[in-house]
Amino acid sequence: MAKNQPLPLLGGITPAQFLAEYWQKKPLLIKQAIANFAGLLSPEDLAGLACEDEVQARIVQQKGEKWSLKNGPFDDADFSQLPKKDWTLLVQSVNHYVPEATDLLKQFDFIPHARLDDLMVSYAPDGGGVGPHFDSYDVFLLQGQGKRLWRISEQTDLTLVDGAPLRILKNFDTSQEWLLEAGDMLYLPPQIAHWGIAVSTRNEEGDAEDCMTYSIGFRAPKNQELASEFLGFMQDKLAQEELKLTGMYQDADLALQNHPAEISEAMVKKVSENLQKIKWSDNYVAQFLGTYLSEPKADVIFDVNKKMTLRVFSEKVAKLGIALDLKSQMLFLNIGLNDNINIHFFMNGEGVIFENQSAEILKELADKRVINAKKIDDASLLQQLYDWYIAGYLSFDFI
Ligand code: SIN
Ligand code: CO
Repeated sequence: MAKNQPLPLLGGITPAQFLAEYWQKKPLLIKQAIANFAGLLSPEDLAGLACEDEVQARIVQQKGEKWSLKNGPFDDADFSQLPKKDWTLLVQSVNHYVPEATDLLKQFDFIPHARLDDLMVSYAPDGGGVGPHFDSYDVFLLQGQGKRLWRISEQTDLTLVDGAPLRILKNFDTSQEWLLEAGDMLYLPPQIAHWGIAVSTRNEEGDAEDCMTYSIGFRAPKNQELASEFLGFMQDKLAQEELKLTGMYQDADLALQNHPAEISEAMVKKVSENLQKIKWSDNYVAQFLGTYLSEPKADVIFDVNKKMTLRVFSEKVAKLGIALDLKSQMLFLNIGLNDNINIHFFMNGEGVIFENQSAEILKELADKRVINAKKIDDASLLQQLYDWYIAGYLSFDFI
């Protein structure tokens, strides 16, 4: 992607303009962001995915004022019981299963990979949707086949319907609405109330085309979640004695107390002073972020590759190159954790350090999710790539 050219994807503005004016600030409707976008998978493909054990899928149904939610995996009987209208199927992390999603997500490379959550795809016959709500993440809602009426609201009243199985806004005040067609896209920052209602259409052959929406979601971690995860990380550092909190509590200056049961002010002060020796630098925060942000979600399982020797692997990389598995998350840190030469790479929650030419190769793999055919001369890099391949983190299938 040319670095800062106007993009049709953003309605002709540059990524820099988008970041300055819209990102995390206000909605943006883009007509024909991807001209005549035909979608990446059919309703049948999506339903097939929703029947797989490891895939996170939901069916949301509306009957008058009542909403119901059913979690997958589903089977044919689940789908055959559904009415003609007013329900939707939502499938998370479609990018983990559909190789073509990689190219779609690459178009959003102006947002750091560390912020990406997933590509969710929904299917809905007429009237279907998840109701009026708000999300805690940034999302690009790209319309596939069919149409969807999007309503957004400027309301600050975010009260939810009591007892509903999903988060439905009690009061929704439409301030703007648009009918999105295939290839149109709506960007929404977090906390903006919105409501998408499927509108079925007919294609040129006269066949019904139900609505499919592609949600490219960027997670915005809660500060509280970051803090609690970071403190867990620091606890590990303490257990590994990296924090060098040595010695033990001492009170050679113990003064006589009137009440033996009382925890004295002097004791509280001493312990407090000791605890304040737990200091962290940006290096710790950097290490934590690399690990945390590249950690796979709990439900992600990698398929181990067993049958290949290091020599055959090396020959294949020299001939074909290698790619990240669709489920892999690879990030890197360029800031000097130890010094300015070493680059810290994080593959699915595990950190490794490389430098010079080897680091350049790994940066390419992380940025582009693929490296071109090349002979890997650095034995430790080759071994690392091989280990990742065996663990199922890399693949020859997606080059
Ligand atoms: C949403 O509004 O977050 C759901 C989008 C969809 O129904 O596809
Ligand atoms: Co939403």
